[in-house]
Amino acid sequence: PQPLLMDCDTGVDDALALLYLALSPDVDLRAVTTVGGNTAARQAAVNTLQVLELVGRTDIPVAAGADRTLNGSLPHYATHVHGDNGIGNVQLPAPTAPVADTDAVDLIIETARQADGALSLLATAPLTNLALALRREPRLPELVRHLTVMGGAVHHPGNITPLAEANIGNDPEAAALVLAADWDLTIVPLDVTMRENLTTATQRDLLAHGSPACVFAARALDVYFDFHEEVALPFRGSACHDPLAAAIAAGHVVPRLAPRLHVDVETGDGPARGALVADTRALYLSYPERADANARVVLETDGRFPGRLVERLRTSTPAA
Ligand code: BDR
Ligand code: CA
Repeated sequence: PQPLLMDCDTGVDDALALLYLALSPDVDLRAVTTVGGNTAARQAAVNTLQVLELVGRTDIPVAAGADRTLNGSLPHYATHVHGDNGIGNVQLPAPTAPVADTDAVDLIIETARQADGALSLLATAPLTNLALALRREPRLPELVRHLTVMGGAVHHPGNITPLAEANIGNDPEAAALVLAADWDLTIVPLDVTMRENLTTATQRDLLAHGSPACVFAARALDVYFDFHEEVALPFRGSACHDPLAAAIAAGHVVPRLAPRLHVDVETGDGPARGALVADTRALYLSYPERADANARVVLETDGRFPGRLVERLRTSTPAA
């Protein structure tokens, strides 16, 4: 199984991604680190432990990291999207495993070193922890196999401002640092995650299976669907941001279109702050591909991942 570390802000869709990975036999989820985003880093760590416990994975170390962005501000918690507790206001039992003593940044570096170049990194949250890890260990990109980031919007509108998506826009300075480093980098932006949709049929199929993990997922989706139905989609359902990025990181979903592009982040204080700036000129015009292209940007997938997500979640053990 491929070793993978997920840095997240658990979050309804982060929770689904965690369940997906924890239930994937070809993935060795080595550690999970959390950062302030959808909710505070500590709350995200507790949520993560609770969610992993639903599938019996109390063995995975979970460490909390940065609560403030690189420039010291608090992220705007997304309680209107993910509920007051981050996981759709579903109340789960207190976790039996504790949040690790280690700092998230140390856990990222340590896990990378131990995996001997084989570690896949997946970031589904603001990039503060990864930026801090790069400051502490500038060789981090050489120590990992690849980095997959859910974030940004190329042709799609932003979701926290007209141009900015939450994971990039909540800490643009961190994102700029991470994107400038020398990773084998894949970006999974809103352009694709908004088009892979969970629906009320997803909830029905999860509930029908009836395992604790499936029932949790179905219930957590209620709050998430409320938000999407109100402002983001013309039907009751949701995007599938972080699980899609997880499946791409694991090689389970192969994008239809993922050109190598040069990407940057706007860090100025104007209306474009936090926007991902992808140079798509070689894609649409006759410009040559840029020699300094620094990421594969996923611009098209087949829209069928949600069915596979449900299938994977339905491999979880039903309650005794
Ligand atoms: C991203 O922001 C968060 O709210 C979600 O968990 C996802 O990672 C989507 O913009
Ligand atoms: Ca997230």
